[in-house]
Amino acid sequence: MQAVEIKKGIYWVGVIDWNIRNFHGHTYATKKGTTYNAYLIIDEKVVLIDSVMGNFSQELREKIGEIIPLEKIDYLVVNHVEIDHSGAVPEILKFCPEVKVLGTARCKEGLWRNFYVNMDFQVVKTGDTLNLGKRTLKFIEAPMIHWPDSMFTYCPQEELLFPNDAFGQHYATSERFDDEVDQRELMEEAKKYYANILWPLSSVILKKIEVLQGLVLSIKMIAPSHGIIWRKDPKKIINAYLSWAKNETHKKVVIVYETMYGATEKMARKIAQGIISEGISVKLFDITQSERTEIISEMLDAQGFIFGSSTLDNGMLPTLAGFLEFLKGLKPKNRLAGVFGSYGWSGGAVKEIEKILQETGIEIVQPSLSVQYLPTPEELKKCFDMGRDFAIKL
Ligand code: FEO
Repeated sequence: MQAVEIKKGIYWVGVIDWNIRNFHGHTYATKKGTTYNAYLIIDEKVVLIDSVMGNFSQELREKIGEIIPLEKIDYLVVNHVEIDHSGAVPEILKFCPEVKVLGTARCKEGLWRNFYVNMDFQVVKTGDTLNLGKRTLKFIEAPMIHWPDSMFTYCPQEELLFPNDAFGQHYATSERFDDEVDQRELMEEAKKYYANILWPLSSVILKKIEVLQGLVLSIKMIAPSHGIIWRKDPKKIINAYLSWAKNETHKKVVIVYETMYGATEKMARKIAQGIISEGISVKLFDITQSERTEIISEMLDAQGFIFGSSTLDNGMLPTLAGFLEFLKGLKPKNRLAGVFGSYGWSGGAVKEIEKILQETGIEIVQPSLSVQYLPTPEELKKCFDMGRDFAIKL
């Protein structure tokens, strides 16, 4: 795939990673791959904004080479030090030893600790600008979106925002723009990305969008560092971020369970029936059969969560335990929860789930249900009632 001119004199020179299936050390299942987007601006000065994962350095060089000799780059803006965007920085420095690198103070420190390579680095802060000739670039620090070093770069003449990780999607496509892809698929990937990466940073994101609206006059295009570029409707993704960051939820319940011999599963299915009987939408997942990444995405806009497990060694089963630890890190706010489970000789799963939900700050809104061996018809009726009562509480 060749470089793509996204505006006159501004090029996408990123790479498409079609085959990556695990990201962030197996914490994110990238079923649709991803892209690492880098952008080249040709003005009186030449600027490269971000780079790509290190193993794609040569492809980045080749794309830049289609437009301009690599050594002509004057500035390298590093919006974020994580290696999916800075991995090719040493390669760029090798071919452009005179290039001036710009980023936040934490970026400078991070680049050193990633690569231990000397470079001509200029620290920039919110409001600092870089004159390119016809255009300028304005820098906006964005700590914790997604790391402490992160920043956005804005070009006022083009009304173009380069927000790095924000507004991205792990979505490998041959198309580069929002109006060229399936809208439902695009928004599903954007939501999954937010839920699994940015959810715990929601309050920071909400403030940053407010600040951004004060700092930049208007945004006609958003060019993130993953996935497609928002040119037709950048407001669509900004509004989606506002909704997710405000914790806006639907009357929807996600049930996640792990079962040893099927008793907990029987309970889960009855609870689901009880919820459905009240006209509330349910998504039910056996944790061992589904990707955690997909489940978390379903949870982002669900008002209720119900968790269940068989008991093993006086606690819950291990896959659900890992899932709940991950969920704890995402810090979901204002959600209601229920707990159920089964056991053979002694209980324990339900208590352990309750404990981690309390630590996570999720309110358990009804007494938990625990059943020995296989549930009887009476106990299954209790499960149905539990689901129905939970639905009524939403
Ligand atoms: Fe896409 Fe935080 O790196």
